[in-house]
Amino acid sequence: MKFLIQPSQCLQGVIRVPGDKSISHRAAIFAGLASGTSTIKGFLRAEDTLATLHAMEQLGASVTHGEDGVLSVDGVGINNLSAPKGLIDCGNSGTAMRLLAGVLAGTDFASSLIGDASLSKRPMRRVIDPLTQMGADITANAGHAPLKLRGQPLKAIDYRTPMASAQVKSCCLLAALRASGVTVIEEPELTRDHTERFLQLIGARCIRKGRRLYCEPCESLQPFSLTVPGDISSAAFFMVAASIAAGSDIVLKEVGVNPTRDGVIKILRAMGADIRVMRERCLGNEPVADIRVRSANLHGITIPAEWVSQAIDEFPCLFIAFAAAKGKTILTGAKELRVKESDRIAVMADVLNTFGVSVAVQDDGAIIEGGTLRGGEVQTKMDHRIAMAASIAGFVSEGPITVHDCEHVATSFPSFAHLMREGGLRIKTLN
Ligand code: S3P
Repeated sequence: MKFLIQPSQCLQGVIRVPGDKSISHRAAIFAGLASGTSTIKGFLRAEDTLATLHAMEQLGASVTHGEDGVLSVDGVGINNLSAPKGLIDCGNSGTAMRLLAGVLAGTDFASSLIGDASLSKRPMRRVIDPLTQMGADITANAGHAPLKLRGQPLKAIDYRTPMASAQVKSCCLLAALRASGVTVIEEPELTRDHTERFLQLIGARCIRKGRRLYCEPCESLQPFSLTVPGDISSAAFFMVAASIAAGSDIVLKEVGVNPTRDGVIKILRAMGADIRVMRERCLGNEPVADIRVRSANLHGITIPAEWVSQAIDEFPCLFIAFAAAKGKTILTGAKELRVKESDRIAVMADVLNTFGVSVAVQDDGAIIEGGTLRGGEVQTKMDHRIAMAASIAGFVSEGPITVHDCEHVATSFPSFAHLMREGGLRIKTLN
């Protein structure tokens, strides 16, 4: 599938983006592990999160999809999971694979996690190492999927994650629920804390002291009722588009603004963006707000290191903001971008070069000299966020843009082209 984009004017309207991907993964897992029935409103119906939901069904949870889009999940209980029939297919989703590895390591049965070609190239040693220290029995293909797990009794560990990764942290916390003793996880930087918030909501004991988390084992988890906030990572495409397209004015409704995820707002504001966060409130255990974005004259900045992990998934679209801004933007400390669904530093540099913008690529970041974007034909390397990022360049490009291999947009944001078209992007899909 291709996106064809014609140079477009501005973005307007009131937009509701789909539910948060990270929270939906966790909602599916914890509802499946709970003892009783949970209801989830606003669950993200995209390939990645449906893979996790299906995995929990394979482990014994029973899921009903209500007509109003509300999911009802009968959990099996953390100690009652059943051996899956067949392989558990995580598709394109690193979150599904890494979090499920934490769920499966301490069971009393064998299971196998598989993924698509892209996921099978992504590093899994980062979860295999701590789980093995806890006593897990995992066979992998030189640190890559498929992962074959033979459930084992687990013991608590005191572990410092070598990289800032919420997936690794969450994997260890999920395994800790079945380990003997108090597991301690220390992160080099604070990463998204949805798992910790969930654990508190459903009666597990997990407390934070600075960068260290202390998690106790747990016999049963409470079912819950939850409305999933709009995904700030999906809203980010609209924030960048409205900021760079002259004459834009949008309101994004009920977007998650968890402080471990709002780096995109901080970075855009530092570049001169006009972003108002309004009606801040809580949806369950997560903060949400309506966000108004109007166009502004952006300028390049040096991105503070502490904002990088808070905006880690937003760099593909932020690269478009950097390219459209006046002057130079310097990004460092972002090596993790190289092991996402694609090498996002290299691939976005190629995209911007095609558009005529110069990028000096570095090991852990890039220096982007803002300028005029001419348009052109770009490759996404099967990465959903590269496809969406390249598309919004249509708001500032001089010529048309063709984006190849866009089917992976369905992994996180199936209604992207539809919502962008309604807002004003001249985008067509071509099969
Ligand atoms: C996620 C954590 C991040 C992020 C990913 C979702 C999560 O990955 O990039 O899209 O839901 O925990 P890392 O843990 O690899 O940084």
